[in-house]
Amino acid sequence: MMHSLAHRFPGVRDGWARFDGPAGTQMCDLTIQAMTDWMASGLNGCGGGHFAAAIACDELVDRARHAVGQLFGADPAGVCFGPNMTSLTFAFTRAIGETLRPGDRVVGTRLDHDANISTWARACERSGAEHVLAPFDPATGTLPVQNVIDLIDSRTKWVAIAGASNLLGAVPDHRPIIDAAHAVGARVFIDAVAWAPHATIDIEALGCDALANSPYKWYGPHSGVLWMRPEILAELPVFKVRPSINTGPGRFETGMPNYEAIAGIEAASRFLLEEGMDQLSRYEMGLFEPLLSGLQAIDGVHVWGPSGMDGRTPTAAFTVDGLRPAEVSAALAADKVAVWDGHNYAIEVVGQLGLADSGGVVRAGISRYLDLDDVNRLLATVGRLAAGAR
Ligand SMILES: Cc1ncc(COP(=O)(O)O)c(C=O)c1O
Repeated sequence: MMHSLAHRFPGVRDGWARFDGPAGTQMCDLTIQAMTDWMASGLNGCGGGHFAAAIACDELVDRARHAVGQLFGADPAGVCFGPNMTSLTFAFTRAIGETLRPGDRVVGTRLDHDANISTWARACERSGAEHVLAPFDPATGTLPVQNVIDLIDSRTKWVAIAGASNLLGAVPDHRPIIDAAHAVGARVFIDAVAWAPHATIDIEALGCDALANSPYKWYGPHSGVLWMRPEILAELPVFKVRPSINTGPGRFETGMPNYEAIAGIEAASRFLLEEGMDQLSRYEMGLFEPLLSGLQAIDGVHVWGPSGMDGRTPTAAFTVDGLRPAEVSAALAADKVAVWDGHNYAIEVVGQLGLADSGGVVRAGISRYLDLDDVNRLLATVGRLAAGAR
């Protein structure tokens, strides 16, 4: 088995086992160094000018667009930067809302994080379009593609789906949904926030029309990235101030870019490209297997979502009989094991699973800096809690 890359992550030297990666990962050494170097360089300023620092700002953004484009197999001319996925998606759907009419339809899913639901719901409310959500299968925690395809009709303008569930880890079969949407002239937006940290994404091969993700979930800084087809970017009725650039990603990026974050995004992209997403995923899955089977083997523990290793990310959602998820996460924290509990903004998911009133789930995700000792520590604490609660 490959070794953990914990030595590349200064943030995990404090003895904590950090299973909170699905909420946000620690930054890798390259990210931290690139941001520090940029901030100390004297180049930090504003782009669009004729002096060296201004030119360097533009070059940095251009390099970062190319690095992100390379990471996701996408045309860099469609890469937009912003504060986080939610803000970028609200800006996107606000503009899309200008193109929607009463009678139009937007299809979403109940497997999604609310950032891919409320954003579209608001655009539909304001334009008079209809917003419908496909249910997932609560027994398996997976999204049957037919549930989405059944809702796609000639009125459909956009289909907004999860790259992966941030709570259950399920990765839908995107391709048939994209094909069904395109067959009626609709476009597809993918929320890849929970997917991008764990898998190779090739946007060109996938064929989606827009895809959003958050570098702070893949060892980068707090920030968001939204890619869209350059032709969509060119025609989108964006909300912008008059003097700002009206071509390329600059149309969509309001205000001054966060250059220091963009330096970090470029570095985090390079880190993933150098490590290789396939290799990273192999390591993560190798560690997730004992976590998943270990949780499933504990009496009194219920694992939600897909029961096997296929079609998923290395994120586990579980509950312990007789204990609220918050009690479990607090007990784990006492043993220096960091996990999240609750709905984690996937309110439709906990709603459909009937867990809204009982405090949601405990969520533990694998990141590249964890190792088998961390997994065993989590399992030992959960085992002790489950035995004590019986
Ligand atoms: C699947 C998914 N979508 C969207 C978001 C929102 O991302 P951001 O914090 O960048 O707005 C999250 C955050 O946890 C997420 O997990």
